[in-house]
Amino acid sequence: MPDLRGKRILLGVTGSIAAYKAADWLRSLVKEEARVTVVMTEAAERFVSPLTFSALSGQSVYRDMFDEAPDRIMAHINLSREADAILVAPATAQTIARLAHGMADNLLSTVILAARIPVIICPAMNSFMLSHPATQDNIRRLESFGYHFVQPGSGELACGEIGDGRLSDWDVARETLLSLFQPNDLKGQTVLITAGPTREALDPARFLTNRSSGKMGFALARTARRRGAEVILVAGPVQLSDPPGIEAVHVTTAEEMRRAVMDRATTADVVVKSAAVADFRPLVCADHKIKKGQQGIQLDLIKNPDILAELGAMRTHGRILVGFAAESRDHADEGQRKLREKNVDLMVVNDILGASTGFDVETNQVTLIDRREALTLPLLSKEETADRIWDKVLQLQSESSAA
Ligand code: C5P
Repeated sequence: MPDLRGKRILLGVTGSIAAYKAADWLRSLVKEEARVTVVMTEAAERFVSPLTFSALSGQSVYRDMFDEAPDRIMAHINLSREADAILVAPATAQTIARLAHGMADNLLSTVILAARIPVIICPAMNSFMLSHPATQDNIRRLESFGYHFVQPGSGELACGEIGDGRLSDWDVARETLLSLFQPNDLKGQTVLITAGPTREALDPARFLTNRSSGKMGFALARTARRRGAEVILVAGPVQLSDPPGIEAVHVTTAEEMRRAVMDRATTADVVVKSAAVADFRPLVCADHKIKKGQQGIQLDLIKNPDILAELGAMRTHGRILVGFAAESRDHADEGQRKLREKNVDLMVVNDILGASTGFDVETNQVTLIDRREALTLPLLSKEETADRIWDKVLQLQSESSAA
């Protein structure tokens, strides 16, 4: 399951004004049923009371190496043995410097020095402190030790300055955390994914489109990133925020999507076309709003380019092409037909009439049709479905390299 349920996270909170945001992150982790143990530095306690974190985590907060009975001191140092990952958020310049130099002068730095589990550091500080060569050197040093960093965001900082150094959004840290618990089996591959609908203008106010939400394509992008791929996501107009750590290209029409895909397809090892591209577009887009004075109007539509078929026609050996087919009847036959006609390796077929498998829902139930077999998956979340599609892509790649 690509989520944080049951994962044991050691949350290290250090003395930045952003410490209050860590309380919110803790809430999100607890909501996902992660088991969180909190370690605070002395400076962090100046910003937020340990009581807040113990109330939210349901257990007492660890603060000082020497505040318990002597026989518990070693237990403190070994806290990381009972965790799957350490998340330091917010991480101050001071804590980063401590860790970079192997200091063990407070509980958190001691626990991290003694840890053999992944460590994620989420810096939050004044932008000059962040860009200072000393801090940048320390970050590089920690990266060379294998520590993971979550890029701080940009914007207005608590000190009043504008620049880099804001604690990242939770979503960004969550993706890094999730990637630790995933196989890195797409590492070294570039995947190009299309998502969402396209819009074809009729006049300056109106357009033709469809009900695609883009959720399936975005789930594919997030899961591929977590599994180590470089991801290019070409998205039509959707109400979703770009997944962190990917290259997002926003387009409106089928023709724009085609150009964006063709410009980038040569770099891709896998192309997954989950977008619901409009099959037709108005022959002309009126310069001015079409008036309703008339009894009725005739619309002339012409065919849009079939991007997937075009990619299928100019196949490069080794590149896997995946298409989607949203069908309301004859699913399997339609999937087989499109697999052949578009010359692709895999068709993902789903029933758009199903209540849990159609548009704008969080779940999907698909059949994966390749040249050898048809595999019907159970009803799954879109992220789980996406992971099963990646598993299938990896299987097809290993079969084709063995052939
Ligand atoms: O033929 P049909 O539209 O049902 O095929 C669906 C698949 O083809 C999807 O993968 C979709 O992204 C792709 N497609 C395309 N260009 C179009 C229409 C569909 O790439 N103009």
